[in-house]
Amino acid sequence: MGAVTFTASKNHYHRGFFPLMNGVTHVPYPDPYRPVLQSLPGEPYGETVVRYIEEQVLGKILPPEDVAGILVEPIQGEGGYIVPAEGFFPALRQLCDRYGILLIVDEVQSGMGRTGKWWAIEHFGVEPDIVCAAKGIASGLPLGAMIARKRLMKWPKGSHGNTFGGNPLSCAAALATIELIGSEYLQNAAEVGTYTLGKLREMSLRHPSIGDVRGIGLMIGIEFVKDRQTRHPDEKFRDKVVDLAFEHGLLLLGCGKSVIRISPPLCITRQEVDEGLEILERAIYLAEEAC
Ligand SMILES: Cc1ncc(COP(=O)(O)O)c(C=O)c1O
Repeated sequence: MGAVTFTASKNHYHRGFFPLMNGVTHVPYPDPYRPVLQSLPGEPYGETVVRYIEEQVLGKILPPEDVAGILVEPIQGEGGYIVPAEGFFPALRQLCDRYGILLIVDEVQSGMGRTGKWWAIEHFGVEPDIVCAAKGIASGLPLGAMIARKRLMKWPKGSHGNTFGGNPLSCAAALATIELIGSEYLQNAAEVGTYTLGKLREMSLRHPSIGDVRGIGLMIGIEFVKDRQTRHPDEKFRDKVVDLAFEHGLLLLGCGKSVIRISPPLCITRQEVDEGLEILERAIYLAEEAC
């Protein structure tokens, strides 16, 4: 119930589960493509979101001394592969330090080398207090980890146990994965990711249905819109592209309202990317013809 309360990417994750865990408040993610808050003149949008947290949330709803932590994805995953707006993380870190609030980053999707650094938060020049990791950590075997500052990890022995925690097979897979990420995949994710992002940006020039291409390393989102001016999301078009790509041999997964995520294995080669992008573009052409 705690975990499901924290997600806010789609309302169907909450449907049927109310009342959720008390004490959790959500704020808008600093989405530079779809800002929902009003910036002051010259204010970077990332700082606007932090100002909103300080003035509207801490100032009116939650006394800061009652806030244990702020949990945030360094790059939003399920919500639409969104790279946060400029200024967000430095301002958020300062806010947390001002009030003694822990900064907790959910790196379950963005972490473990996917962005070309071990953790996506490293791209934004701040250090979190707690990092949550899972998914890629053991190459498909079930494992999760909470990594925190020493001063936070003084729990008495056995105070957080579970049946499958420390599973030897999963731990062995994680050790092998960590070795591979360090020796090869970090660099590959950075290089092939930059290459893929460039190719997708070129592709977007040929397709007005693509409103935005964004990402870091091998965590890239392609957002489809009805009109580039209005940025109205085109969910049906996105779904059509996913179906057509599948029929031609490429398995894709959507996220957000009208986004396709590009989140391949970190060992992917340029040739494999080229092959995948060719099928993706064919699917986009076919979807455009069908509309
Ligand atoms: C950012 C993020 N956090 C947490 C989770 C949940 O992870 P798990 O399925 O391991 O509970 C997901 C799953 O998609 C995720 O993307």
